[in-house]
Amino acid sequence: MALFKTKTNFSTVQAKLKIPDHVAIIMDGNGRWAKQRLMPRIAGHKTAMNTVKKIATAASDLGVKVLTLYAFSTENWSRPKDEVNFLMQLPIDFFNDFVPDLVKNNIRVQIMGDINGLPKGTQIAVKNAINQTAKGTGMILNFALNYGGQVEIVEAAKTLAQQVASGEIVPNDINATLFSRALQTGDLGDLAAPDLMIRTSGELRLSNFMPYQAAYTELYFTDVLWPDYTADNLVEAITSFTSRDRRFGGLNDKYESET
Ligand code: FPP
Repeated sequence: MALFKTKTNFSTVQAKLKIPDHVAIIMDGNGRWAKQRLMPRIAGHKTAMNTVKKIATAASDLGVKVLTLYAFSTENWSRPKDEVNFLMQLPIDFFNDFVPDLVKNNIRVQIMGDINGLPKGTQIAVKNAINQTAKGTGMILNFALNYGGQVEIVEAAKTLAQQVASGEIVPNDINATLFSRALQTGDLGDLAAPDLMIRTSGELRLSNFMPYQAAYTELYFTDVLWPDYTADNLVEAITSFTSRDRRFGGLNDKYESET
């Protein structure tokens, strides 16, 4: 039986779960999903877009505060031109269709990555979506678009180096808090680090996704291909998260009380 069908019966599941504030997802397996059906790869990406809608709505209903989705990496430009063009069109279609629902659900769109490196039409769609949802006080839907984690760290180092060069700060001022603020998740403050990172399709790597922020993130891997991913699958990942003992390098209460 499906664990999650409507917002109403969701509350029973929710009561047993520890909801992570920030969930990040590497949405993988679109190509393989299409191949299994003898369809072109772009058919996988098109279905994937509908999965994004379902999962964004489910995460918001569950009470997730930030949902970060890896939609296009700086390495994805090396794919065939037709596929890249299709992937660049997806945010346009997605926001055209889904912004009213996002507004209705009080969800605010944010982007991390080099927006200026996107085609003009994609840039406009993204900027419109950010503006149209700016008043949302609920979940932040943070798309990583033209994003690469190593470049993000290098750019943060450059920003801080410039601040030192201009006399705004001295090298000793640089600490984890200041560095974190210079990253593209800087605006998220205490919510910048994902509590839970999910990767679909059975691949067991991070692929340059939030390498700084993921230092203490709980990882969850599933064989489900992203176009097949459901709200129930999200609940399964959060159920696993609920049972994790997060120690952040320290000891849990049990051991502390023994000493
Ligand atoms: C990885 O699957 C997926 C991508 C590179 C694209 C992800 C994009 C979406 C899920 C749609 C985004 C939607 C919006 C609204 C921006 P893959 O193609 O690498 O799959 P494979 O490993 O099976 O080939």
